[in-house]
Amino acid sequence: MAGASGAALQALIPGDFTHSASLVHYRIYQDNGKVWLSFDREAGESLEGKRELLYFVGSGQRGRTYLFSEDGYTFEAPVNWYAQNKLWDMTPAYGSAKRMPLNLPASVSCLDCHTSGFHPPAPGTENKYPAPLFSQQGISCERCHGPSEAHTTSKGNILNPAKLAPAQRDAICMQCHLEGSVAIEQPGKHIYDFKPGEDLSAYVHYLVLSTERQANPRAVSQFEALAQSVCELKSGDALHCTTCHDPHRSPESSEREDYYRAKCLACHGERFGKKHNSKHPDCTSCHMPKLVSSDVAHTQATDHRILKQPSLNISPAPFTVVPKPRLERFPLRAGPPTDRDLVLGWLALAEAGKDFATAEEEKLLPQAAKEYPLDATILSAYAYRELLHKRTQHAKELYDAALRVEPLNIDAAVNLGVLEAQSGSIERALALWKGAFQRAPWRSSIGMNIAELSCNLGNAEEAKLALRRVLQFNPDFPEATLFLHQLENQATPCALR
Ligand code: HEC
Ligand code: HEC
Ligand code: HEC
Ligand code: HEC
Ligand code: HEC
Ligand code: HEC
Repeated sequence: MAGASGAALQALIPGDFTHSASLVHYRIYQDNGKVWLSFDREAGESLEGKRELLYFVGSGQRGRTYLFSEDGYTFEAPVNWYAQNKLWDMTPAYGSAKRMPLNLPASVSCLDCHTSGFHPPAPGTENKYPAPLFSQQGISCERCHGPSEAHTTSKGNILNPAKLAPAQRDAICMQCHLEGSVAIEQPGKHIYDFKPGEDLSAYVHYLVLSTERQANPRAVSQFEALAQSVCELKSGDALHCTTCHDPHRSPESSEREDYYRAKCLACHGERFGKKHNSKHPDCTSCHMPKLVSSDVAHTQATDHRILKQPSLNISPAPFTVVPKPRLERFPLRAGPPTDRDLVLGWLALAEAGKDFATAEEEKLLPQAAKEYPLDATILSAYAYRELLHKRTQHAKELYDAALRVEPLNIDAAVNLGVLEAQSGSIERALALWKGAFQRAPWRSSIGMNIAELSCNLGNAEEAKLALRRVLQFNPDFPEATLFLHQLENQATPCALR
């Protein structure tokens, strides 16, 4: 896990490809001791540029991507290395994108799981991290053993995960190896502040969608899968990640078979091993097979359900009645989700495009806004619902309330700006948008709003500035290119609008 991230130069995989949907040609290469991603397109709207890749993420067992910075904001490269097929291609979810997505923010959670010693982004920003991005490559000792101060002051007395109570012990691996359908940070808490030995559920509640697991039991994390195994159901806390994995090293391929067999037989017994399929010593080849589409970085590649006969379980059981989706806490013993967990969980799923989640979220919002009057995310989400239902005045009040709690909340500022602009409060709208755009200059729609409004006010210079800023972060955005072109080539461009 030490190789999970580091400086780009240490782990360069040079290559190039042309993405068929966008016709952008990408090249990843080294020049003069630096690593670059260049992009160009000749056909249609031409495009040309490059970014210096600073860090890599992913050991490359399954895949790798790189991070770059633009004006202090850090982004994930739009391209990924796929180890199984040994090729470069678009980052997952952008395979059919017609435009180059150069403005994908490197999220806090991404860095929290893949690096050590990173500092949270500047207040109100999502990805303006202090440099250097992280102080230690990959997963350092402290991530599992606690802060090094404790280590150096009381010599030889590091926190040993094996000696913790089961929930605390499991939490150490869980902080990075579980995502659930959604992970809800608890009020005032950030998962990146979690320290080994603490109670992880004070920081985050993991929710899983009941139907997701039933529909595709394989596309889950190792944690969720193992929880379904008869081995764990029957042995309880005695079976956990480090029963089979040494977090300090992975077995070489030559010792792999003996290594895992010994782990199985520690419970199932040598006698059982002698008589059961003795000609095939690799227990995992039958009971923990590799899953076919294991190129997906964030689902299990090895079936941790440890089934008796995995081949009999390929297709999901047909539903007789279509079940109503439910959100449950994982692990189940953590108890039921709170109302806040539920409303934020449905909200996140609705934003991810799950239509059925919208109704659930809508049902819970009014009550939740009463129950959590100081939760900007809930207030802002409720405001957005009200906005869609054209209850403009109420939406405004809710956005204002959200901004009182969290003055730097970007979504609330942007949407309140829209409402203010519609009702003629132009100055307030511009001020809200400008503040938000300063904190998130890669959010092109905010810059476009500013440009439009400035132009309507006859301020072409201000409009141009905003458009140039949009294109700095998102060069493949023809609406901005076109608008800027008009402004630069017409004598009184904004007067015509
Ligand atoms: C909740 C923690 C978590 C988050 C958030 C997360 N990852 Fe991962 N990532 C993992 C773990 C754990 C693996 C190891 C694979 C597995 O789970 O089987 C992994 C695997 C990968 C791999 C494949 C590495 C290999 O094994 O070759 C890449 C590439 C990757 N992640 C990139 C990212 C990027 C980029 C982001 C942010 C946009 C991100 N991940 C967010 C935990 C996380
Ligand atoms: C991914 C998590 C993880 C990382 C990273 C990690 N360890 Fe560990 N370490 C563990 C776990 C879990 C155990 C307990 C293993 C067991 O006995 O089941 C352990 C046990 C140990 C022990 C034995 C402790 C004792 O009191 O007997 C030492 C020493 C140790 N680790 C040192 C290190 C050092 C040094 C590093 C950094 C180079 C490191 N570990 C990185 C998870 C980790
Ligand atoms: C700080 C986040 C973090 C913690 C804590 C963590 N892991 Fe990981 N783990 C990762 C990431 C990221 C990868 C993927 C590394 C890659 O391939 O790029 C990974 C990979 C692995 C792998 C795949 C093989 C390998 O070594 O790359 C195993 C097995 C694993 N982790 C087990 C554990 C266990 C067991 C624990 C708890 C003792 C644990 N991890 C704790 C982030 C973490
Ligand atoms: C911590 C102990 C433990 C470990 C380690 C363990 N198992 Fe199990 N496993 C059990 C228990 C307990 C059962 C319940 C049946 C029994 O008592 O044999 C079980 C049941 C099973 C079953 C039957 C599943 C079913 O559907 O009925 C299979 C197959 C199995 N284990 C395979 C494995 C393999 C393969 C490994 C190693 C990769 C392994 N187990 C490691 C404890 C363990
Ligand atoms: C019964 C043994 C066993 C247990 C328990 C177990 N694993 Fe694994 N795990 C394996 C085997 C076997 C592999 C495949 C290793 C290989 O092919 O080299 C694997 C692979 C992995 C990998 C690499 C990606 C993949 O899916 O192949 C990760 C990450 C991982 N395990 C995490 C975990 C975590 C986290 C836990 C605890 C929730 C856990 N494992 C519990 C046996 C186990
Ligand atoms: C060639 C494939 C294969 C290998 C290798 C294999 N198994 Fe199995 N195993 C099966 C099948 C098929 C079954 C179900 C039919 C049966 O009971 O024989 C099974 C059943 C089991 C059961 C349930 C037994 C019961 O009475 O219900 C356990 C436990 C188990 N295996 C553990 C292991 C362990 C541990 C290893 C390695 C020492 C191993 N298996 C190796 C194919 C395999």
